[in-house]
Order: sequence, then C-alpha cells, then structure tokens
Amino acid sequence: MSIWFGGDYNPEQWDEPVWAEDDALMRAARVNTATVGVFSWVRLEPDEGRYDFGWLDATLDRLAERGIQVILATPTASPPPWFTLAYPDAMPVTRDGVRLTHGSRDTYCAAAPSYRAAARRMAATLAARYGQHPAVALWHVHNEYGTQCWCEHAALAFRSWLQKRYGAGADGLAQLNAAWGTTFWSQCYSAWPQVVPPRATQWRGNPGQLLDFCRFWSDELLAAYCEQRDEIRAAAPGVPVTTNVMLPDYQVIDPWAWCREVDVVAVDHYLSSTGPAGHADIAFAADRARSWAGGRPWLLMEQATRLVYAAGGRVLSRPPGRMLRDSLGYVARGSDSVLFFQWRASRAGAEMWHSAMLPHAGPDTAAFREVAELGAAVQRLGEVAGSRVTARAAVLLDADSWWALDGQGLRGADLRYLDAVRRDHAALRRAGVVCDVAHPEAALSGYRLLLAPALYLVTDAGAEALRRFVAGGGVLVVSFGSGLVDQAAQVRLGGYPGALRDLLGLRVEEFFPLPDGETVPLSGRGPGPVPPGARGATWSELIDVTGAEVLASYAAGPLAGHPAITRHEVGPGSAWYLSTELDDPAHDQVIAAALAAAGLGPEVPGVPPGVEAVRRWGAGGQSWLFLLNHTAEPATVPARGVDVLTSVEAAGCVQLPPGGVAVIREVRGP
Ligand code: GLA
Repeated sequence: MSIWFGGDYNPEQWDEPVWAEDDALMRAARVNTATVGVFSWVRLEPDEGRYDFGWLDATLDRLAERGIQVILATPTASPPPWFTLAYPDAMPVTRDGVRLTHGSRDTYCAAAPSYRAAARRMAATLAARYGQHPAVALWHVHNEYGTQCWCEHAALAFRSWLQKRYGAGADGLAQLNAAWGTTFWSQCYSAWPQVVPPRATQWRGNPGQLLDFCRFWSDELLAAYCEQRDEIRAAAPGVPVTTNVMLPDYQVIDPWAWCREVDVVAVDHYLSSTGPAGHADIAFAADRARSWAGGRPWLLMEQATRLVYAAGGRVLSRPPGRMLRDSLGYVARGSDSVLFFQWRASRAGAEMWHSAMLPHAGPDTAAFREVAELGAAVQRLGEVAGSRVTARAAVLLDADSWWALDGQGLRGADLRYLDAVRRDHAALRRAGVVCDVAHPEAALSGYRLLLAPALYLVTDAGAEALRRFVAGGGVLVVSFGSGLVDQAAQVRLGGYPGALRDLLGLRVEEFFPLPDGETVPLSGRGPGPVPPGARGATWSELIDVTGAEVLASYAAGPLAGHPAITRHEVGPGSAWYLSTELDDPAHDQVIAAALAAAGLGPEVPGVPPGVEAVRRWGAGGQSWLFLLNHTAEPATVPARGVDVLTSVEAAGCVQLPPGGVAVIREVRGP
C-alpha cells in the first residue's frame, strides 16, 4: 500500500534531454505517480483524424520502467485551434451573446454534438491504445468540468432536459410555466421554442429558470463525462476511471450526483488563504471530498506547492515550511494521495508563474528540497492508505440550495451559501470535532448532530428526512435562510421557514435584514448556551414560538424582546434555530451546547486550541492519529503509540514544535 505522490507531468512541453533530468529528480523526490496528458489534444491529434502517439508511448514506457504509475488523462478540456475552424458552432457563447474562440482552454460547448463526438472519439482512441498498458493505474477524464454555455446547442439541450423534467408538449409547458411562476411579469411561454437559456436580459431574471439551468448544466456535463468513461471502461476493464472535481467558491456541478459516477473521488484544491482560514479551508475541502466518496478514501489530485492563482485574481504563496503540514491536512481526512499541479514549472503559457514541484530555479532550491522531504514523509505513510475517517456530526450541503440562494436568493441578506456552510464547519473544527458534509436526503441516521446553515431550498423529502432524524434522537441546528423555498424555488407559504416550521416549533412572520456592519445585542434566558454580550449580525426575524423554548431574545431595535435563538424538544431529539448570525464566540458556545446535547465531544480531549487532531481507522481496528500544530507555540498532546514519520515512541503524550506534525500509530490499553 502506498500514498500516491507526484503530480501533473507534461513532458511534451519539454525537449527530450529534460526527460532524463525528470527521471532523476522524480526518483530523488520519491515521486510514484504522474498525471499525464491533461491538455495534450493537439500533440495527440495534430489535425483531425491524424494521430501521433509517439511521445506518449515513450512517456508511458519510460514511467513504467521507473516504477512510476500513471494517471492517464483524456485531453478534451483543451480543443486545438483546428477544432475551432472545423466546428465554429461548437465554440461557447457567453450569457451576453459573445462567441468565444480558442486561445485559452475550455473553449467548447459541451452540448455541441461535434464537440461531444470528438471528445468521445479521443477517449475511445486513447483507451484502445493504452487500455492494457501496465503503467496506467487510473483514468482521468477531461479536467475540472464546469464550463457552461448559452448558445443554440445549449438551448436545444436545455429544452430537451426541461421536457424530461416537466413533460413534452403543451402539458409539459404548462407545468414549466407553473414551476417558474411565469405569470409574474407576463413571461408565460406559449410554445417550446420560446424557452431559452437565461441569457442577458434587461434586469432580474427568473429564479426557477436560473435554478433549472444550473441543474441542466450539471447533468449535461455529467453525460459528457459518462460517455468518455464508458468508452474507457469498454476498452480498459478493471482500471478505475475518475475526473477531478474542482473545489472553488462557486458551483457548476452537483458533486453528490457526480461522485456516484466515478470509481474514486478526486478533487483539486488550492489555498484560499495562507493564514488560519487556509487550514480551516483544507479541512473543509477534505471533509467534502471524503463525504462525496461515501467515507471511502479519495484522491487529492491537485494542489500548489507555493504560488497559486487564487480566486478574484489574487496571488497567494504558501509560506515555506508548510507543505508537509498542509498536505497532511488532506491525508488526515481520508486522502490517499498528495498530488500537485504540476511537476515542472512551465517556461511559457498562461500559467507559467504558477508554482510547481520543480521550480524554474531548479532542484537546488528550498522549494524542491521541501518537496523531496514531503516525498520522504509520504513514503512513510504508506500504511495508512485505505484507512477511513468516521464522523458522527455533519453539516448539510446541497447544490440546489447553493444555486438557488446565490443565484436569485434572499434579498437584503449578505448571505453567500458556501460562506454559511464553511462557518458551521469551522465551528465544529474549532470544537475539535471531525464532521462530514451530508445531503439532506441521504441516510442520516448514523449522525448524532446535523447543522443546516442557509439550507434555503428544502424538498418535501428533505424536510421529512430531517423530521425523522430529530424524531430518532438527533440534534439539528438550523440557521436563518433555511427551509424557505420548495424544489421549484417557490416560497413555502404560511410563515417561514415553511419546510421546517413545525419541526422548529416556531413561525417567522417577517425578515429584518441588518444593514452592513450593524449588529444587534441579544439577551440569553438564564443559564443557557448564549453568552452575555452576544450580538447578532446580517439578519434578524420576527418569530412567534409555537412550541420552541427561547434561548435568547433580541435586546434592542424593532425586535426587542422577541425570540432570536430557540430550541424545540421533539421526543428524544431537538431542533434549534438561529435567526441571526452570531458572533464567533457565541456561535461556538451554541455549537458546544448542541454537541453536548448530542453526546459528542472532541476527537482527542485536551488538545490545545489551534492543534488539529484527526483519526484514520484501518480495517483491523488499527488507528492513526494525525496531529497538526497550526500555532506558533510548542504543544503537548495526549497520545500513545509510535510516530510513523519519525519512528519516535509517544508514551502518553507528544510534543509538537510550532508548526509541527505527528502521525501516531496508536496503541491502546494501560
Ligand atoms: C486547476 C487546473 C490546472 C491548473 C491549476 C492551477 O486546478 O486543473 O490545470 O490550471 O488549476 O491554476
């Protein structure tokens, strides 16, 4: 067993003499895995139908001889210029009607038949040639699916998706009109050709249309993936197939649906911050990936060694000395790999300043030495491969809520879906609790605590699942913005939050968004979970309790004296409601009270703040305790066993230096 270590390898960008240096340096860094061919379409098919596999044959044979396994990609995320000229109709069109052309990557409409045929042909051709190649351990279809398009092909495909959902003909159209509420602003459709993607329009668009368009694109891209996967499976039976899901702050695909179609879940994750928020984000990324994998081990397909092009045009650089700790952040939470984009930093091209395992300055660099040290550490971790992380708490995560809330959601609230989910996840992490993310309609009975942050859209089935969870003794903490709309993104009437009103034992009459930067004081009732001095921000609501107990009320403003935080006992379980955004200490205290009610505590009691402790469990009951000290102070953590990284025994506790790590193969007993 081994943890996969390496990254994207693009030898076609380099002359042959460089390959020998790659061999030697990969050996020095203990690279055991190379992802090959991700964007190599033009080198494989220089002109339509004319193939050149020489360099790829040589690369795969060479890597096999060196004992390096290959993740072989299909190159369909980057069609060559000849493709544009041959199939101009397959170039993507933006919402504003601008047709794009080649010059970058992802210039295609995945609903265009000519693109789909070309992509499928490429997958079949590669699979026929390399399906039995001994170096190929995994197939990697495409790269980071996520490109939407608003062209005529997309319009046709969208209509046919809608007809499957609502029915064809006039009846289907009537259903669609009802679901989208098109009587508002006189938008009723009287014939199917009038239904188009949500292209640029004069002002605000239709929420139902926007939501269905997101659902459609997730399904359309998934169909494109499945076509390639099935070609590969036919020619390479037994070799797993996946695609790399990117983990940005926006959402184009529904990962729950996608991850059912891959043989192993693979994600790309880049630092969003170099401070504590970055550590929290690594944990959040890893917990998402593991949960999408149903708890099975998953692969970190890409991260950056140092400099990363972050969201919003920012450039971040991972501080020296953090590569091991950050990488262990993923492995601790179930990754069986530490892979990077990319092996050798490019000399040219759009990402030539992006960091790599081997920097421009060469191997005699602090960065490469850190990579080699990481390779040595990862090699020692082979024994943890295949082991699992277990969690009894989860944060609910749903693509529909994300699309609906961020697309056309709650007016007046500075409420971004992922921020709300991240916030609850971070609170559990601060409490030392390892959690999953879970879909509201999934099997939930294995959990004791569920957090529902901004779960804006709740289906009838979702509401029923949450009712069953609480009735079965679970603790549910719901935050404002949840349960407001049904699956068509229409308001649930009779008082908010319609889907969860009875479960929460309350009824919200009206919203009172708080202006930016304004907070409202809260007053707790007796010795409760809301600390004195707590304040709410962003949002407040006029609540009538119909069975819930009031834990804290608004202490000033138009809602003074009205409930703010409530708890409703339901049989052996309870459903809590936060109608405002609590400051961090108050939020942590409410989460601590909910954890106590659920009978849950930290993974390792007595761990100092800022030290992360996560366990992986092997099939035979062996456990490994990952300890990551994110503070600038030394830390002492209770542990018994042997540090796999250093072979040093821990006889009751481990001393971690500032920024230090340990992976303890635990022993139990006296
Ligand atoms: C993504 C892509 C890579 C590369 C990196 C760095 O994850 O998959 O090809 O572009 O980002 O930006």
